[in-house]
Formats: sequence, C-alpha cells, structure tokens
Amino acid sequence: MKITVIGTGYVGLVSGACLADLGNDVVCLDIDWRKIQLLNNGVVPIHEPGLHEVIKRNVASGRLSFTTDVAASVAHGLVQMIAVGTPSDEDGSADLRYVLDAARNVGKHLNEYKVIVNKSTVPVGTADSVKAVIADELSQRADHDLKFSVVSNPEFLKEGAAIDDFNRPDRIVIGADDERAIQILRDMYAPFQRNHDRLMVMDVKSAELTKYAANAMLATRISFMNELANLADKLGADIEQVRKGIGSDQRIGYHFLYSGCGYGGSCFPKDVRALKQTATALGMPLKILQAVEDVNHAQKSVLLDKITQRFGHDLTGKNFALWGLAFKPGTDDMREATSRVVLEGLWARGAGVTVYDPVAMPETQRIYGDRPDLRYAQSPHEALNDADALVIVTEWKAFKSPDFKKISAHLKQPIIFDGRNLFEPAAMQALGLEYFGIGRGLLTER
Ligand SMILES: NC(=O)c1ccc[n+]([C@@H]2O[C@H](COP(=O)([O-])OP(=O)(O)OC[C@H]3O[C@@H](n4cnc5c(N)ncnc54)[C@H](O)[C@@H]3O)[C@@H](O)[C@H]2O)c1
Repeated sequence: MKITVIGTGYVGLVSGACLADLGNDVVCLDIDWRKIQLLNNGVVPIHEPGLHEVIKRNVASGRLSFTTDVAASVAHGLVQMIAVGTPSDEDGSADLRYVLDAARNVGKHLNEYKVIVNKSTVPVGTADSVKAVIADELSQRADHDLKFSVVSNPEFLKEGAAIDDFNRPDRIVIGADDERAIQILRDMYAPFQRNHDRLMVMDVKSAELTKYAANAMLATRISFMNELANLADKLGADIEQVRKGIGSDQRIGYHFLYSGCGYGGSCFPKDVRALKQTATALGMPLKILQAVEDVNHAQKSVLLDKITQRFGHDLTGKNFALWGLAFKPGTDDMREATSRVVLEGLWARGAGVTVYDPVAMPETQRIYGDRPDLRYAQSPHEALNDADALVIVTEWKAFKSPDFKKISAHLKQPIIFDGRNLFEPAAMQALGLEYFGIGRGLLTER
C-alpha cells in the first residue's frame, strides 16, 4: 500500500519505518528540512532502540523515503497519516495548529480519494475539524467534488520500546463511520492481525477519547502510588512491600504501580492537561485528574525536598552527581523530565551538578548550553568524583547493579537519593550507605 506519514517525530518515524518494513511503500514528510536532511544522510535524529536498523534496511530497499515536498507526499499515499505534535496551548488544551496545517496541505494538494488518518493525540471533535479544513480547501478548487475520509487511529506506543509496541500492539483502535476507509485500514493493519484480532472499530469520538482515557488512567496510577509512597515515608511503611501486596490482586495488577519522582515526557503531562481542559470547557472539571496533576507536580520536587532536608536549603559549594536525564529509560526525550526540575532546583540553591545519561546528554546540552554549574561525565562513576551525594532520576538498566564500593569511595559522603527505588534500603544500610528512596519508610528517613 502507498502510505504517506506526515511528521517524522517519535510516532511518525516509527510508524513509517515499521509500515515500510511490512512491504508498504512509505513516504515520510516533515516541514523541518534539517530533520529530513539528516534522515536522507542516514542519521536518525531521535534515540529509539532498533529504529536506525529498520530505517536503514527500508531506505536501502527503496520502500522508505523522506521529503519536504508537500505536493509530492500528498500525491503519494492512499493513506495520509498525520503524526505531528499536539503540544499544550497556554490554557492546557491541545494546540491543534500542526494537525490543521497538515490537513490543510492535504486539502490543497488532494488529487484523488485518500484516507486521512489522525494518529496524533487529539481532542474529541478533531476529526470533524480536519474534515472541515480539507473541505474548505477543496471548495476553493474546480475539482471540489474529490472524495476523502477522515479516521481516528490513536497511537499507544511507548518511547524506548516503540518498534516492539508498534509491531505487537495490544490493540489497534480505529474510529470511523465510513466502510471504505475502515476496509483500507483493515488491509493496512492485516499483518498485525495474524495472531489474533487486535482491531477495534468504534465511532470517531470514542476513539479520540480512548487515547486520553488510557494516558489519564496510567498517570492516575502513578500519582496514586506516589501519594501513598509519601504517606508510607511518614508512617514508616515500605511502599515496595505495599506495591507487591496490592499488585498481586488480579483486579489491580503489577503494571504501572511503581512510586518514583514523578512522571514526565511528551505525553502524560500534556494529555492530562488537555483532557482536563476539554472537560472544564464543558463545565464539568475533572477532579481526579486535577489531583493527579497536583500530586505529580509536587512529586517532581520530592528529591529536592529530601536533599534540602539532609543538606539544608543553601547548597552553595555543594556538588551532586546526577544519574539519568531522560524522562524514562530507552529514550533521549527530556520533555517535562523530572531531571530538569532537579537540575534547576539544585542550581537555584547554589549547587553544581555533574550529570551522566547514556543517551540524553546531547539533548541536555541543547536545552541548557554551556554553564559552569553543569558538567558532563563520560561514565556513571566519573560523575561521582567529588560529589556530595548521588541523585538517581532515571532507571536506566546500567544503574541497577552498580559497584557500591566504588560509589562510596568516589563520593565525599556515601549518600544516595534514589528517585526510582532501584535498591533495597536494608542492603544499602548494611553497606554503610545513607539511602533515601521514595516511600521506603523509616529506614530512609533518619
Ligand atoms: N511520543 C510518544 O511516545 C507518543 C506516543 C503516542 C502518541 N503520541 C502522539 O503523537 C503525536 C506526535 O508525537 P511525537 O512525539 O512523535 O511528536 P514530535 O514532536 O517528536 O514530532 C512531530 C513532528 O511533526 C513535524 N511537523 C509539524 N507540523 C508538520 C506539518 N504540517 N507537516 C509535516 N510535519 C510537521 C515536526 O517538525 C516534528 O518533526 C502527538 O500528538 C503525541 O501526543 C506520541
């Protein structure tokens, strides 16, 4: 099938590359010519495990190409998949400017029947807006009776595991009221259906809401566990024991039940905000999601709170080793990452920070540039030299079994603030380390 993917970010690149890998003929369009230039030179502008290999073999086979040529890309695909960003607007609602621009371009250059697929996360009603924009563009043309369909097909992939998630989705949600378009998407997704039927066809609005509901539920589980973790700290209970105790209940399950230093990334924060805004605009504010957001906002400072409780508010002259900058392992994405709150909080209190992350240091450099209170280490252990304490923000695999003797030897004092509960407090105590986890009870609160 001929497919055009509009937007070459995390979702667009992964979708385009994986669909090409299945034998489709895919053109990826972006308005950012620098990105397209990089991709055409064999450079993948984001870090996503396995993506480079998939892109490389499909470009070599001629099934995948990258362009900034809007007219050619619209002419190419029977399916026009919109995968552009939907960042937060000032009031928290989703900024649909990029989606509607993409739709307008499709309308301007439409040459025959096409299915426009909204893969971006968009509020309920956006498919109608996309339809209206395309119809408006067409109305200005002589061939205004050209036909098109608009379908909602939200994406559920996770950064860091995106290739696997795209190829083995839990479900494929199609929101459509148009049999012709549904059949085209059934054909496109047929290779994903071999094992069992994963396709769920529903009305457009329900499909649009499903994506927000999924992210809101996951964010809720995280904030719930974080709030309980803070209570556990006060009570002297261990949230990790509690997690196991409740996760074993099949109605609850173990997934997404970890306490930590807050959720970030490009999706949960903005999607929670957008869903809240949708509801508020309809006069029914979502109280649970307001609490989810408030708890998360506070949780992003929980490590700073623990650091200042231990060292005092003035951290002038102190230096901290920071392990992990990406908002989660497996990605270089630092959008709304907790590391940024920690870095900026430490700097505001006069401290210097030496950071290490396996992939997100170039992104850190892009965001913060050069500054004297930010140093980059080439290894986790190098970051420890002369630091007053180690602060762990991202649960990269490489941080999970460190050499604790080296940690103690390199740090000025053997102190760990662990925002991801990677270690057992009792084991840390036995090794002579002062250990502050999240919700680990009295053992961590001296
Ligand atoms: N990142 C994720 O893990 C994830 C997962 C599921 C859903 N989503 C959703 O998918 C959408 C895309 O997210 P992302 O993280 O891939 O975004 P991104 O910001 O990484 O990439 C978006 C790309 O779209 C391009 N673009 C903007 N306007 C364009 C236009 N008119 N024509 C062509 N290209 C254009 C930008 O230049 C950019 O390269 C968002 O709605 C997001 O909420 C993201």
